[in-house]
Amino acid sequence: MKYHLVSGACGFVGRNTVKQLLKRTNDSVIMVDDLSVGTHPSAWLQDITSKKFKDIEIFGKEERLFFWKMDFRKFLNNLQENPKWLEKEYGIKISRFADAFHFAAIVGGRAKIEGDPIAVALDLSIDAEFFNWIAKAKPERVLYPSSSAAYPISLQTETASAALKESDININGNILGKPDMTYGWTKMTGEYLAKIAAEHYGISIVSIRPFSGYGEDQDLSYPVPAIATRAAKKENPFVVWGTGQQGRDFVHIDDVMDCMFLAMEQIHDGSAINIGSGKLTSFIDLIKIFSRFAGYNPTIKPLIDKPMGVHSRYCDMSFVKERLGWEPKISLEEGMRRVYDVAVEKLRCER
Ligand SMILES: NC(=O)c1ccc[n+]([C@@H]2O[C@H](COP(=O)([O-])OP(=O)(O)OC[C@H]3O[C@@H](n4cnc5c(N)ncnc54)[C@H](O)[C@@H]3O)[C@@H](O)[C@H]2O)c1
Repeated sequence: MKYHLVSGACGFVGRNTVKQLLKRTNDSVIMVDDLSVGTHPSAWLQDITSKKFKDIEIFGKEERLFFWKMDFRKFLNNLQENPKWLEKEYGIKISRFADAFHFAAIVGGRAKIEGDPIAVALDLSIDAEFFNWIAKAKPERVLYPSSSAAYPISLQTETASAALKESDININGNILGKPDMTYGWTKMTGEYLAKIAAEHYGISIVSIRPFSGYGEDQDLSYPVPAIATRAAKKENPFVVWGTGQQGRDFVHIDDVMDCMFLAMEQIHDGSAINIGSGKLTSFIDLIKIFSRFAGYNPTIKPLIDKPMGVHSRYCDMSFVKERLGWEPKISLEEGMRRVYDVAVEKLRCER
């Protein structure tokens, strides 16, 4: 029996990863999340049959999903102090974890990244514990989620924006710029640790740099579902943070998953790859798409005192196409339509 480990399993990317593991494998999944932001599995699993055992919950008729509501650092400390902890306490015998996906992090969107940067720096401690653990436990494969925020902000200004290429960061080749706030610095450090884990400890690991991942089940602190919901309510005037001219590379979570699983099969040396659409879309464009779906034409009202982040952040996907033969499949129109339809349905249920 194989066991995969997913930290931050109840967050946006974690939930989608757990669902993929259920679909793609017959293996068991150890899920850890402190639910500081995440949503309890009973709200998003299809099969919510569950039973409690000591301080954990086991989900599904097949009993493949084990959930610890716990700080991931504590979970790892328990494993470090006593590698047989899972067997002794819960009767779960794991000689070696299969895939370890590390999504536990303080993320929280632009308000958190700019408003509480030291809180975000706690990600350094979560990542440090994780890398320490993998160096000893040596899971079969590891996924480290870096971010597009690791890229130099000097390449993302109004006057000097370019499609960001993997080679714009080359740790071993001494090409580094200033990442975006503590969030980006943490991810840069994580990428460095991933390289060390591969080179010094022989761990099979890949880092991914997702751009702006979005999806139907993302919470409303993220711009895409928030804008979709406000359009569904026909907000007018339609407020936007900053000028609204700032642009991002929106990529649907199903594409992120597809590329991530492929990357784990093919990249083992700690390298990082982009996951994006390769297209720049401004927030005003996004409002126009959703208001078109909603059938009205609002006045756009910029809120220039709100945090807006870098001006333009989008990626060049040619390295991924060449290395993995992969391209995103879900168009902006289709992905945003899916989000909009779910937003409308949620509003209908609330009424
Ligand atoms: N969503 C994206 O588009 C995107 C883009 C780039 C990078 N990433 C990275 O992917 C990872 C997951 O992102 P997300 O969008 O799912 O974020 P999220 O906030 O939805 O999920 C993070 C999860 O971690 C949990 N968590 C936080 N601290 C914890 C701790 N100490 N112990 C246990 N659980 C803890 C939270 O409760 C939450 O469920 C992050 O590292 C993020 O930086 C995501």
